[in-house]
Amino acid sequence: MVHPLDDPETYRRLDPQDMAGLGARLPEMGEEIWQIAMRLRLPQVMESTTIIVLGMGGSGVGGDLLQALIGPSFPVPVIVVKDRHVPAFVGPQSLVFACSHSGNTEETIQAYTEAKQAGAPAIVITSGGVLGARAAEYGDPVVHLPGGLPPRAAVPYLFLPMVSALRRLTHMGELSMEWAGARDVLRALVGELDREVPAERNAAKRLAARLVGHIPAVYASSPSLAVAAYRWKCQFNENGKTLALWNTFPELNHNETVGWEDERIARQLAVVLLREPDEPDEVSRRVTVTREVVFRTAASVDEVLARGSTRLARLLSLVLVGDFTSVYLALLRGVDPTPVRPIEEVKRRLAG
Ligand code: PA5
Repeated sequence: MVHPLDDPETYRRLDPQDMAGLGARLPEMGEEIWQIAMRLRLPQVMESTTIIVLGMGGSGVGGDLLQALIGPSFPVPVIVVKDRHVPAFVGPQSLVFACSHSGNTEETIQAYTEAKQAGAPAIVITSGGVLGARAAEYGDPVVHLPGGLPPRAAVPYLFLPMVSALRRLTHMGELSMEWAGARDVLRALVGELDREVPAERNAAKRLAARLVGHIPAVYASSPSLAVAAYRWKCQFNENGKTLALWNTFPELNHNETVGWEDERIARQLAVVLLREPDEPDEVSRRVTVTREVVFRTAASVDEVLARGSTRLARLLSLVLVGDFTSVYLALLRGVDPTPVRPIEEVKRRLAG
């Protein structure tokens, strides 16, 4: 019998808007936006004291990725604001990125307006909407995104322009090699995980099959991968239409591990550990001990290794594996990965 994820009929029936195909386009979207971002007019920035990224949901994850990528080594703090207000310290010495795929997200529009009133230079990343119009009024540089995409499928568009702009503004090393290396890692992964690759050789299809009927618990082996665990959780929510847990070592050893004591609940959880190939010994030992002590009664425990040698490649490789897995999980659960009706319904009611 044909595996349902190897059967084209499954995709025709359950994925009419082609979320599986959008996932496979991630490296090419990245390439396209990288070329555009390198030519973007940059704002006049004085000596910046903070980088602020505004954005909600699928448009906010770019800020999380940016913080994970450059935050630890950047000379000034990178702060992600997922709210309608910017912190009081925002002013002419802050550089603001305002990200909204639709351009109509009320929190992002208001926070951007506050930042502009405080005199902050900004770069806007959007397909248009109110945010696009307001950016034109303020004369801010805009990265114009194609419309009609689910924001969560546009992650390279929402993330890479910020990486490029900051690298250019701070003259931080060779940009193109960094992206080119990550792009090659992502292309290789698509070749392994795309829907054309049969389940017997496709790690994302096999992982999704183990998650069906359980609640995924996605744990990053260290804080540097936390953003990837959060992205997996969000993709399980939005594509897979299921609740999911996420957390990161070592913090989870100081609270969440106790929640696993209730075996009836633990048996419903399927653990996915996001790891790196060259983890320090203290990280590997911690994960091994936690597997033995805490995850004994989990429905399953899987490990996914980041690929590539740069932080950019590692983060994006984990994002890509999670994206594929969440789409396959949706299809195995018999749901269309694309619609996000509860998000739209809440927005509609709040606007009414
Ligand atoms: O995935 C989604 O559809 C949401 O998380 C949206 O990204 C979020 O509601 C914000 O909308 P937008 O991306 O248009 O700013």
